[in-house]
Amino acid sequence: MAVTCARGLEGVLRSELEGLGFAPAGEAPTVVEVCGTLRDCMRLNLWLRTAHRVLWLWKEFPARSAEDLYRGVAGLPWEEVLRLDQPLNVRAANQADEEGVSTAWMALKCKDAIVDRMRVRLGRRPDSGSTPKGACVFLLRSAGRFRLYLDTTGVPLSFRGYRQESVEAPLRESLAAGLLLASGWTGRTPLVNPMCGSGTIAIEGAGIASRRAPGLQRSRFAFTSLRGFPREEWEQLREAARREVRPIRIPIVAADWSREAVEIARRNARRAGVENAIRFEVAELDATPVPGPRPWIVLNPEYGHRTRPSAEELEELYHRIGQFLRRHGQGGRGVIITGHLALSRRFGLKLARKWTVFNGPIECRVVEFELSGPE
Ligand SMILES: C[S@@+](CC[C@H](N)C(=O)[O-])C[C@H]1O[C@@H](n2cnc3c(N)ncnc32)[C@H](O)[C@@H]1O
Repeated sequence: MAVTCARGLEGVLRSELEGLGFAPAGEAPTVVEVCGTLRDCMRLNLWLRTAHRVLWLWKEFPARSAEDLYRGVAGLPWEEVLRLDQPLNVRAANQADEEGVSTAWMALKCKDAIVDRMRVRLGRRPDSGSTPKGACVFLLRSAGRFRLYLDTTGVPLSFRGYRQESVEAPLRESLAAGLLLASGWTGRTPLVNPMCGSGTIAIEGAGIASRRAPGLQRSRFAFTSLRGFPREEWEQLREAARREVRPIRIPIVAADWSREAVEIARRNARRAGVENAIRFEVAELDATPVPGPRPWIVLNPEYGHRTRPSAEELEELYHRIGQFLRRHGQGGRGVIITGHLALSRRFGLKLARKWTVFNGPIECRVVEFELSGPE
């Protein structure tokens, strides 16, 4: 299986996979590989917090010509895997070292080979579409070979289902969870999320602290559209995941100076089933309540990409964030993710760790500080 994630989260994803009992077999930018069955894919889709997609490798073959592609794809027993009543979505990608073939052409050729085979074997073919509403297939061209995957996820796992409203420039859910896990937060110390926007960091924190499977909220995954999908086994996995949910014993604070943002965050938390575990406050940064001991203070401040405070305002804000962390540390940790690469050096605190991650196409820095408390 190839499990994909945002660039920069591979290490956290690897730890998550190990925690679920899988031994990673390989790693490259945005992907960690593990061995497993289609049934394992269901568990991974349900439990992984930092992954985007779980791709199940079905076949690899040489990519010398268009005929190779058509023959390689049409040679597989699609009629045993796909259903006629479920739409088919085919995506394709070309690894950077490959030239001269458009991914649209690859996807079209692949889809033709699949539906031609089904028409011959079954007399009918499924509809195909550009959105992942049913079964999903992914074709990758890399190092002179095609790799054909069943995409068992469809809509990426970062879309948990709870965030139906958001403020400008929200963090992806998988990235918010990745931030917390990478910083070593285990859900046993207080979590404070000033400038919470739509509440993603606090909501993901509540999910981690309560051991709530992130996929429990989703209504569908692409594997449910495959022929022979073991519904009973899936329901058992979900039931077992529901039994895993624990009460949250630590304070979690989500605050923002915008009342509208706080209301959005609250409604998102309600949909995620964690509203009662989070204390919501309409508060300017400096007035955010910080319960101790050893709080993890995690922020995603504006950085002037899509939202537009002036350069001076931003500089002043980042300086104030540094002061806030210094004042409220109490032996905890400060974690800040920002797309403002220059300002990420302006907090005036001693750095514990700095790393790079992508929020969609935007390159971000994560800076982490050990917080010793008031001087
Ligand atoms: C980039 S957004 C955070 C997005 C959030 N991580 C999410 O996933 O939705 C930054 C937020 O900081 C808030 N904010 C900006 N300046 C603030 C201040 N001085 N005090 C409190 N909140 C502030 C804005 O209202 C906005 O909601």
